[in-house]
Amino acid sequence: MERKVKQVTTRTLAEMKARGEPIAMLTGYDHTFARLLEEAGIDVILVGDSASNVIAGHETTLPITLDQMIYHASAVVRAVKRAMVVVDMPFGSYQGDSRAALKGAIRIMKESGAHAVKLEGGRPILSTVRRLVEAGIPVMGHLGLTPQAIYQFGGYRVRAQEEAEAQRLYEDALSLAEAGIFALVLEKIPAALAQRVTQALSIPTIGIGAGPHCDGQVLVLYDMLGLNKAFSPRFLRRYADLHGIVVEACSRYIRDVKERTFPSMEESY
Ligand code: KIV
Repeated sequence: MERKVKQVTTRTLAEMKARGEPIAMLTGYDHTFARLLEEAGIDVILVGDSASNVIAGHETTLPITLDQMIYHASAVVRAVKRAMVVVDMPFGSYQGDSRAALKGAIRIMKESGAHAVKLEGGRPILSTVRRLVEAGIPVMGHLGLTPQAIYQFGGYRVRAQEEAEAQRLYEDALSLAEAGIFALVLEKIPAALAQRVTQALSIPTIGIGAGPHCDGQVLVLYDMLGLNKAFSPRFLRRYADLHGIVVEACSRYIRDVKERTFPSMEESY
């Protein structure tokens, strides 16, 4: 008899924070990698709008559409039994009126089968967060270096280093938690600030470039697998050199085809 897998839920994550067990989250955009993440035992897969960069080759996360996010999320959802799947709401789908945001979030949940959505920003999006939460949609927040605001920031440097911005971020975090988010991503902020926010909240924080005191960590899958040699921020630990492995494997294949050593008769019918 097949054993039923216990799914990771918002409650699981709250319990993990309560007992001090770190949460491991990675981004995922397609079925094949999502299957591997599930097999590895990942807790949460974030279908990040970083798909706009790493899959589609755009400079920023801004161009990706709601339909494209739903396409990626559906492929990921079909691969998982245990992991929780969180989907980024793309730029422009929630910053305006909260009715439109609710419609977009419902489309994500209904059409992809994902378990939660993620929104970037603090107090300016509070009414939208409340509306989604009231509709029964789990919402993950995201503060710090929020890539959808990159043109406003003017670059990818560490955020909230000055006291005023740090205090604003801290208050945004409290407000988002009060509005009902179940977890909060903190991106590229000083470790001491991330620690202060993490201690103040009963919901888990998940850091990327936010130091070791968060309740969990997230990295962009393609970056941590070493697929992108050009991207080397201090916070990125590479767990593999897939760039080298893929280029080497493809070079060998090309050589074998050119030399007519592939396929052999054993590989033929
Ligand atoms: O889109 C993404 O990959 C993200 C992570 C960097 C947190 O939002």
